[in-house]
Amino acid sequence: MATPLVLVNRHGPVAVVTLNRPDKHNAMSLAMKDAITETLAELDADPNVRVIVLTGAGDRSFVAGADIAEFQDRTPVEQLRMYREGTVYDAVDRVAKPLIARIDGYCFGGGLELAMACDVRIASERSLFSQAEINIGIIPGGGGSQRLPRLVGLGMALKLTLTGERIEAQEALRIGLVDEVVPHPHLDRRVEEVANRIASKSAVVARVAKAAVKAAARLPMDQGVRYEQMLFALVFSSEDKEEGVRAFLEKREPRWKDR
Ligand code: COA
Repeated sequence: MATPLVLVNRHGPVAVVTLNRPDKHNAMSLAMKDAITETLAELDADPNVRVIVLTGAGDRSFVAGADIAEFQDRTPVEQLRMYREGTVYDAVDRVAKPLIARIDGYCFGGGLELAMACDVRIASERSLFSQAEINIGIIPGGGGSQRLPRLVGLGMALKLTLTGERIEAQEALRIGLVDEVVPHPHLDRRVEEVANRIASKSAVVARVAKAAVKAAARLPMDQGVRYEQMLFALVFSSEDKEEGVRAFLEKREPRWKDR
């Protein structure tokens, strides 16, 4: 039987999705992109999953980009058809549940674009980052030209995209490309802690909070604030808002119903 390109392990409410092509630094082939898309849709629909962690197999790479070998004979028409059908980056962006990228090793090109489409990025100290497309004569095609400036600002995004240079994890942290950097031996524990902390909140309210914050990258300020106000009002219809407020006033822990 062929080795699965994507592995799923469940730890209570947290599903860990591992991209599994370690001999190719987890480079994303089209088949792997399809498997990721399918897996994420299943986990997003699964009521037992509250948080999803995305990571790469082996101890050398998160993902070293899209599969460069598949670029070789691809025509513009084929590429446009793929975009029409929807990309793996769109699929990550569409996930309503909180998504954490666990990064250990090379995070290059499409791998960086995949990580940027997640909600939280936690990296080991030994990770390396590069918006590397220009080194092989192409540009970012998985949303990188838009997500990178939103995370690190226009100047830094231009520098990274035009030079294709590698940066270390501490530099990625300094510029806001990742949210936390920890020594490699602590990576799993820290990802687990953050995932479980998010999983301990009301799942329905976490999804609404995620939608509100993500709108900041898409809407002008006034529209974003109006959108937040609509979502805030909507949350007042949830049983978990009733429970959360009551639990605080009664000085006890809330018991979420995810409704
Ligand atoms: N697409 C396809 N294959 C890839 C790949 C990618 N993005 N990244 C690595 N591989 C393959 C290599 O071709 C090699 O295959 P082989 O064993 O059949 O020859 C295998 O993975 C191991 O890679 P190798 O280069 O030998 O390992 P390394 O440890 O010397 O270097 C990297 C690792 C990640 C630094 C290097 O592979 C690299 O630069 N990869 C491309 C990164 C990139 O530019 N990504 C963005 C593309 S848009």
